[in-house]
Amino acid sequence: MSNIQDKVVMITGASSGIGEATAKELSSKSAKLVLAARREDRLKKLQEEIQNNGGQAIYKVTDVTSHEQMEELAEYALKEFGKIDVLINNAGVMPHSFLYKKKIDDWNKMIDVNIKGVLYGIAAVLPSMRERKEGHIINVSSVAGHVVGAGSTVYAGTKFAVRAISEGLRKEEYGNDIRTTIISPGAVHTELTNSITDMDLKPGIDEIYKGAIEADSIARAIAFAIEQPSDVAVNEMIIRPTQQER
Ligand SMILES: NC(=O)c1ccc[n+]([C@@H]2O[C@H](COP(=O)([O-])OP(=O)(O)OC[C@H]3O[C@@H](n4cnc5c(N)ncnc54)[C@H](OP(=O)(O)O)[C@@H]3O)[C@@H](O)[C@H]2O)c1
Repeated sequence: MSNIQDKVVMITGASSGIGEATAKELSSKSAKLVLAARREDRLKKLQEEIQNNGGQAIYKVTDVTSHEQMEELAEYALKEFGKIDVLINNAGVMPHSFLYKKKIDDWNKMIDVNIKGVLYGIAAVLPSMRERKEGHIINVSSVAGHVVGAGSTVYAGTKFAVRAISEGLRKEEYGNDIRTTIISPGAVHTELTNSITDMDLKPGIDEIYKGAIEADSIARAIAFAIEQPSDVAVNEMIIRPTQQER
């Protein structure tokens, strides 16, 4: 029996890209999925696809920037499935821009979704995981959580923060048998670059994304971390396209 079978996995940002691909990958290994994002039509379509393929999935429209909504999501998962084995804090936004352009709304959005969303996710699942002395929290950072580029300053700041939060969480909770994993993808074909409005940056980004890999590559890495025996914690993985230099 796979170590993924029957695990209850809650995924934020499940309506597209890496979250959606991960839901499909884990469903193929018989996980029970709790899908969250803001776009209900996408969540419903994914749930139907999973169910039509014999899998189990529920969804709840959730904005990760709302602490209350994240708590309600966890409560819904516990009510429907009785436990949460894995949280994948995947929701994220990347409206890159140069600092001098003062796109303050975009900075706030990145801080709210990429940092606070991750913290609210952790807050929502930690009590029940601590009670069971079992659990796994997977936080999606980025190569930008390791390397800062001009124009990616605020995004990189949020992704460095995700790694810092994950390492602090690991140190606080290893004694409770709660595993932590940081996933740092390089360029992946998803909808992530759609939010970039700084046209001075677009050509450079398009160049980097020419060699981008598909989201299922990241989904397989996440599945690998989950399927290890419970005494093995895969704490960190960087998955770049072979063609990516930085
Ligand atoms: N693609 C890459 O090259 C790459 C590289 C490194 C790291 N990453 C990271 O991978 C993660 C997934 O991104 P992706 O590439 O799959 O991009 P994506 O296709 O744009 O997916 C982002 C997901 O986040 C969700 N989301 C955004 N704001 C949200 C909010 N306030 N509340 C709830 N959900 C929200 C979106 O759903 P709704 O709009 O429906 O809410 C969507 O499902 C992100 O953390 C990103 O930073 C991606």
